[in-house]
Amino acid sequence: MIDLRSDTVTKPSKGMLNEILNAEFGDDEYKEDPTVNSLEEYCANLMGFQAGLFVTSGLMGNQISLLVHSNPGEEVITTKDSHIKNYEHGAAAFLSRIQFRDVESVNGEYNLDVLSETIKESKIHKPLIKVLAVENTHLASGGSIVPFDHIRQLSDIAISNEMKLHVDGARIWHAILSEPDSIKYGQFCDSLTFCFSKGLGAPVGSMLLGDSNFISEAREFRKKLGGGMRQVGIIASAARYSIENRNELSEDHEKADTVFKSIQKENKSFKDIIYRGTNMIFFKFDNEEKAEIFRKNLEDKKIISGYIKKDTIRLVFHRDVKNDTLSDIINAVNYSSSLDS
Ligand SMILES: Cc1ncc(COP(=O)(O)O)c(C=O)c1O
Repeated sequence: MIDLRSDTVTKPSKGMLNEILNAEFGDDEYKEDPTVNSLEEYCANLMGFQAGLFVTSGLMGNQISLLVHSNPGEEVITTKDSHIKNYEHGAAAFLSRIQFRDVESVNGEYNLDVLSETIKESKIHKPLIKVLAVENTHLASGGSIVPFDHIRQLSDIAISNEMKLHVDGARIWHAILSEPDSIKYGQFCDSLTFCFSKGLGAPVGSMLLGDSNFISEAREFRKKLGGGMRQVGIIASAARYSIENRNELSEDHEKADTVFKSIQKENKSFKDIIYRGTNMIFFKFDNEEKAEIFRKNLEDKKIISGYIKKDTIRLVFHRDVKNDTLSDIINAVNYSSSLDS
């Protein structure tokens, strides 16, 4: 089977396993794991932040950011379809006890007029808005790249309204590949989290970045959440290997691009096919029955696809998808969409 459900399904490569075997370890609760310390410093320098904290997951990085930046009852602005609001198991309500306010957006980019208007209104009789969150790349719209200029504009808005800007950069390296000068996020945002386990190929772990005060508070919340770890260099070494090889993500873009270009798009069973130039292709259908037929047909051809919504099937390309299987994938998509049942 070719597993295209997500870019989280990759297995550690031989090179990565070798790094793990050769890593040095210490107790990270005492800040004595040299591999973790050096990973945190490396990532902070790379992206222009003061400090970093190795956390278990993207969710933990996002939710710790909300815990540090806000108080219960305050608001966090996000897009209607963001991960932090919709796909984190209600964690923000449970942990920070904030409420989210949606602002109109297209492909992860805010409508800046509506954003400014929303913030203005808040000053009269709505809760204090403390955080502005942006997701890059933006998952729900097909892995869209939010341009760095937009991040800069959000930063100006956040600063002038005394709000913190948080970037959910679970897949930020896909965006940075397309705009290589956009790496110094630390100059424009207060916190950012990215994942080593999505596309970069590590088995576990995410990095949370911010200034030194933010990171020391974040460390306390990580402890409260049970995320304090010991000889965690064992996974930090894999994370280090993955981030040093981040440019290989471009191969996944090429795979998605090849498949997208070869799909018979005139096929009437699709309502829409969405490809935003990163590592995903979304297939939209008129209804969930058609989507399910497509998914099952693909499975018959040994392709495992994922759902994004009930009427939308996704294929996500990653490092474990071999180039010599691309023609099988293309044939399977063309075959599966030509069959109604
Ligand atoms: C955009 C985005 N943010 C955050 C996360 C959460 O990451 P994790 O699964 O490591 O908790 C995901 C997971 O898929 C994601 O796609």
